[in-house]
Amino acid sequence: MSRPFQADDGQNPLGSLDEWEDDLVRRYPEPGSGENPDATSGTPSGFKAVDPDKSKEAFRNYDLDARPSVREFYRLNHTHQTFAFVQAKRDEYLKLDKRVMGVWEAMEYLNTLVDDSDPDTDLTQIQHLLQTAEGIRQDGQPRWFVLAGLIHDLGKILCLFGEPQWAVVGDTFPLGCRFSDKIVFHDFFAENPDHSQPEYNTRLGLYEENCGLDLVCMSWGHDEYLYHVVKDYLPTEALYMIRYHSFYPCHRENEYEFLMNDQDRLMFKWVQAFNPYDLYTKSHEPPDVESLRPFYEDLIAEYFPPTLCW
Ligand SMILES: [Fe+2]
Ligand SMILES: [Fe+2]
Repeated sequence: MSRPFQADDGQNPLGSLDEWEDDLVRRYPEPGSGENPDATSGTPSGFKAVDPDKSKEAFRNYDLDARPSVREFYRLNHTHQTFAFVQAKRDEYLKLDKRVMGVWEAMEYLNTLVDDSDPDTDLTQIQHLLQTAEGIRQDGQPRWFVLAGLIHDLGKILCLFGEPQWAVVGDTFPLGCRFSDKIVFHDFFAENPDHSQPEYNTRLGLYEENCGLDLVCMSWGHDEYLYHVVKDYLPTEALYMIRYHSFYPCHRENEYEFLMNDQDRLMFKWVQAFNPYDLYTKSHEPPDVESLRPFYEDLIAEYFPPTLCW
């Protein structure tokens, strides 16, 4: 049996996982929303990082205004995500021996995540997935793009396997090399044991210039886990969206370019195209799950076998 989601054991300071995503929207407001007049267009075709020259000052102001729960979440994340921690989690989860279930079943399983979100205003996990997918569908994007939107957060079932919030969500970043100072709440890395490891604390660390992100150990969370569950079934573009959608230090802050190879650079245009749908399709008008279900069951069957190993 999975452990119910605990918001009060000190490891889970967020009232709900949505609190992290809401904070992302605060950091990267929707272009045209009036909160960030410098932002560039957020449409996929014209997408580029909101403000690549964002000053340290702007980051500090963002940090100061963060909710205490979000701050504590990032403190835990930056303190405990180490190279060794990620290797242990990869060993534990990438055997994919936890469950066998279909994609829609996984969506329903994720929906059992019980947290402290407000039932009157917050969307369920299925509703967030459907809103993301519907936003992509309405823009006439390819079917695999719609499907990537539908499933992109299914890795959050890690919470149901007992993982703390800081090992499921949060901006992701490479381990085994120096932490970029453009990672949000960078100062908390002072408490990370890897920070004082000389072999990890250079620009390249364990890596070679332009080695390609596939060789890079990313912080552990829902992106990397889901990538391994679905990697045999989707086009490369969709897999990049899934694997790197939380890699804000790269797709929004343009950091770690020196670890990317030519394929990564090409594919990150798709990661960037996906991001506005993830952040800006939330509306309080909940999608009608049952009426949308037949379309999405067909789409799932087009790409996936009836069950997957999780
Ligand atoms: Fe996500
Ligand atoms: Fe999401």
